[in-house]
Amino acid sequence: MAKTIDEIVDYIRNHRCYTHPIFQNWAAVDPNPKVVGALFHQIQCFCASTRPGWNFPVAVKELGLAEESALLQEIVESEEDHGPHLATMAGFILNRTSKSEICPDVYDQQAVESKLKDYSDELLGRLPGYDSDSGLTTQARRGIAVFDRRKRTDRDSTFRNLGTALALEMISNRQLIPGEKHCLIDSGLYGVSMSDPEMHYLAEHWGEIGAEQQHEKNAVTAVASILSVETEPLIMEGAKDFLDSLANLWDVLDSALLQSGYKTEAAAAA
Ligand SMILES: [Fe+2]
Ligand SMILES: [Fe+2]
Repeated sequence: MAKTIDEIVDYIRNHRCYTHPIFQNWAAVDPNPKVVGALFHQIQCFCASTRPGWNFPVAVKELGLAEESALLQEIVESEEDHGPHLATMAGFILNRTSKSEICPDVYDQQAVESKLKDYSDELLGRLPGYDSDSGLTTQARRGIAVFDRRKRTDRDSTFRNLGTALALEMISNRQLIPGEKHCLIDSGLYGVSMSDPEMHYLAEHWGEIGAEQQHEKNAVTAVASILSVETEPLIMEGAKDFLDSLANLWDVLDSALLQSGYKTEAAAAA
């Protein structure tokens, strides 16, 4: 029997990606500026790959699913400008943690991003498969490749993309954005708040009226309405591709940069 939408949502909630402790470990470790920069570089590149819709909304429409296509198009349009906002937040945090002007102009997206990449190259460059042109780990590249499938328009890829979209929006709304809020704001490490203009990225994404809440609703509605015995396995495949690849990216960043398990070991020793 095919899974219901509630069962698919439960599957995503129970995936280890959904409760990955990377942001808790970030808050506990209080990483140095270079580590913060390297983390932001990998996160920034991954997030950037999830924003463009490519052919996906059109391919959904061509299957005769105009309403579902409109829901996805709405998500894509609301992602505009998020790249510059994320760069500003990263530059701001970097300046705070180094107590210097590593990024003299946090609104210069290119300058901030190239600084982040320098730190990533320095700290992660020796990992097997690290690509020095893009500054991406193998795991980040695999995660990004999942979103390349949005360029395809065939039926099976389109249903897989719907599963990926659902998992992406649930993770963004429940793990990634709350995780960033936890380590960047609630931890108190950087002395910043939601009302700082440089933190606009988080303010826009977080909470009941945040962008991610709306995205999650749209994705659940779209997937629920196209769910059938035929489409369910493809939806599940697409969700898994995303969840597995992102969990692997979190693992490598956690172990290479945040001394994975730090918190648990410290707690066990106490
Ligand atoms: Fe966004
Ligand atoms: Fe989103």
